Amino acid sequence: MEIIKDVKQLRSYLAGKTRIGCVPTMGNIHAGHLSLVKLALRKSDTVVTTIFVNRLQFNQNSDFDRYPRTLNNDLKLLKEVGNNVVFCPDEREMYPESQKYFIDPPKIAKKLEGRFRPDHFRGVCTIVLKLFNMVSPDVAVFGKKDYQQLAIIKGLVRQFSMPIEIISGETIRERTGLALSSRNVHLSSQEKIEAPRLQGSMRLIYDAIKSGDRNFVAMEYAAGESLARHGWIVDYVVIRTQDGLLRPSNKDKKFVILGAASLGKTRLIDDLEVESP
Ligand code: PAF
Repeated sequence: MEIIKDVKQLRSYLAGKTRIGCVPTMGNIHAGHLSLVKLALRKSDTVVTTIFVNRLQFNQNSDFDRYPRTLNNDLKLLKEVGNNVVFCPDEREMYPESQKYFIDPPKIAKKLEGRFRPDHFRGVCTIVLKLFNMVSPDVAVFGKKDYQQLAIIKGLVRQFSMPIEIISGETIRERTGLALSSRNVHLSSQEKIEAPRLQGSMRLIYDAIKSGDRNFVAMEYAAGESLARHGWIVDYVVIRTQDGLLRPSNKDKKFVILGAASLGKTRLIDDLEVESP
């Protein structure tokens, strides 16, 4: 596995390579990331996993500082699954001068996560554009765990006519239902027991929709209330259309349940796709 820290070297290594796949990450690699890498390996000839903790997408410096950095272990795990290249630039390589040009994403980026993390997606889109310009991938894989991010990246690629196929990877969960996330390391052992309730509350909505219930607002309210009763600070639990993340109308059948809530100091997000009968 090649480990490359500078852009020039990355471009010369990739020159002439066919069908390049890219898996952008911020490191702290877990089984969720590895499943994205395995998917990329099936869809391309050379897989570049990028590891860069992007200051621009954090609202608070403390969150940026707290983000777990585990490069040596990340490299070991990536090598084991057959990943080809790791691009892990430092901040000076990624931002050699202070960034003055940004992607200004549309309305979809201002709601849900965007309401609670202003400018988060501006930072995500800007770094993803930079990474795509450096790697020039044919395909890129993003997880459904960050459902809104995935939707925004698809729009970015489409609207800027980038010749990149965006592939979505399923969320990997612990046996309890808890979605794997780099943030889980911050959960105390008590919080770890409680944490699967976020997905559990979405499962209840899933079952209700499957059995024909279309009283979406009542379902959202009940989920939020039940989480709050168990000590969560709930930012949102909502049902939106899979396409465009809009409030559902009578005609819609394909939905995604999206939620974000905090347990103590740890904010978790999760989602669940569902189709009505
Ligand atoms: O999903 C992430 O880890 C990050 O938002 C990404 C896409 C690597 C951009 O920094």
